[in-house]
Amino acid sequence: MRSTYLLSACLTLVLARSRSAGPMNWNPLGLLAIRQDGPAKDVGGYPNSPNLPPPMKPTGSMNETSDTDRLWQNLLAAEWIVWSFYDAAVRSFNGTSFTTLGLPNTTYQRITDIRDNEAGHLRIFQSQISAGTVQPAPCRYDFPFDSSDPAAFLALVTLIEVASMTFITGLTQQTTNATARGILAAVGQVETRHEVWSLLDVWDASPFSGPSDTVFPYPNEILDVTNRFVIPGSCPPANPIFPNPSQNLPKVGVAAGTETVAVGATVLLNFTEPDNQPRFATGKQYYAVFYHAIEIVSLPVHTDSWPAEAISVTIPSQFSAEGVVIMVLADAEGAPTLYSVVAGPVIFLQQPAALGTQVI
Ligand SMILES: *[C@@H]1O[C@H](CO)[C@@H](O)[C@H](O)[C@H]1NC(C)=O
Ligand SMILES: *[C@@H]1O[C@H](CO)[C@@H](O)[C@H](O)[C@H]1NC(C)=O
Ligand SMILES: *[C@@H]1O[C@H](CO)[C@@H](O)[C@H](O)[C@H]1NC(C)=O
Ligand SMILES: *[C@@H]1O[C@H](CO)[C@@H](O)[C@H](O)[C@H]1NC(C)=O
Ligand SMILES: *[C@@H]1O[C@H](CO)[C@@H](O)[C@H](O)[C@H]1NC(C)=O
Repeated sequence: MRSTYLLSACLTLVLARSRSAGPMNWNPLGLLAIRQDGPAKDVGGYPNSPNLPPPMKPTGSMNETSDTDRLWQNLLAAEWIVWSFYDAAVRSFNGTSFTTLGLPNTTYQRITDIRDNEAGHLRIFQSQISAGTVQPAPCRYDFPFDSSDPAAFLALVTLIEVASMTFITGLTQQTTNATARGILAAVGQVETRHEVWSLLDVWDASPFSGPSDTVFPYPNEILDVTNRFVIPGSCPPANPIFPNPSQNLPKVGVAAGTETVAVGATVLLNFTEPDNQPRFATGKQYYAVFYHAIEIVSLPVHTDSWPAEAISVTIPSQFSAEGVVIMVLADAEGAPTLYSVVAGPVIFLQQPAALGTQVI
């Protein structure tokens, strides 16, 4: 009952937004612009916020940044997004916001607990960056929910946790540093617990994503997707670019009106940034490369009629409808190298299925 109520609340919200702004638009009306005026000054300054250590001023040169430091810098910058997201929720809502949706009376406390876990992640990642190397400080963020919109926030929790798990898995593949891998595995387990809580208590869904979560080998491409929440130009100048390095690939969504992104669905792609559209060479074969659990499936796509005709892809029906399916467009079967990826990634959320089109 309660998840039906909540889903319909979410869907009402999607419908309301799609009429005005389109479901792929991540800046719908009524945004909560989170005020973070600068790096050190605001940290820990929110009511209810745990006291975070201030970010360090850079004293080394970017030249000296090791691969491991760069990994932690990327993760720290991503974690500022995640922590700020939960902190915004803690400041925007109270227990009643969720109990009026029919959710358990522990919901607000759980969100506060998650926010505090994320603060712990900030401290862990800060502690791993070598002395003298820049510790990225927070930027300003826009999250598409406000205090009247707890359902929109809860839908985004699912996306944020799934994305976290995916880039942490990718970062684990990116480094040979055993200490770093251990920390990444340990932190990833906690993101999974957050996701499991949300699936069970919020969505009344199966908490399991099958025998394996999805492995995607290019974590910075996933981090780039989280950039949608960062207000352009708002990062402290001393921060490295995020992610570092960034390919600035064209972002991929699905056409307005798409009803499902479940496995087996055929969807039309939309490249959502007018200023960052893909370029396809005439006569060249491109592929939609899908990742699910540890499987990779490539399907040829027809690009020669684009943009007159939208590119159509079918999400492989041999995948299970659990966890997520990730897709990129690539100029080689299997997207064997980072640079073979020409657009994306896009995350097709399978659980709960009704949120799939909402969180793209
Ligand atoms: C980085 O290294 C290059 C060549 O070694 C040097 O010319 C440049 O000044 C260094 N940049 C910084 C910020 O230290
Ligand atoms: C919770 O928030 C709502 C809306 O902002 C407010 O009307 C209500 O008084 C708050 N409840 C408590 C217990 O603070
Ligand atoms: C929270 O809900 C549980 C079970 O639904 C109930 O036993 C408990 O009294 C409630 N607590 C408060 C503070 O409302
Ligand atoms: C591995 O990474 C940690 C930080 O996470 C660092 O302290 C350590 O020096 C690194 N080890 C090597 C061999 O680079
Ligand atoms: C594609 O995305 C853009 C940007 O969000 C939007 O304006 C446009 O309407 C979308 N097109 C379709 C067919 O959904």
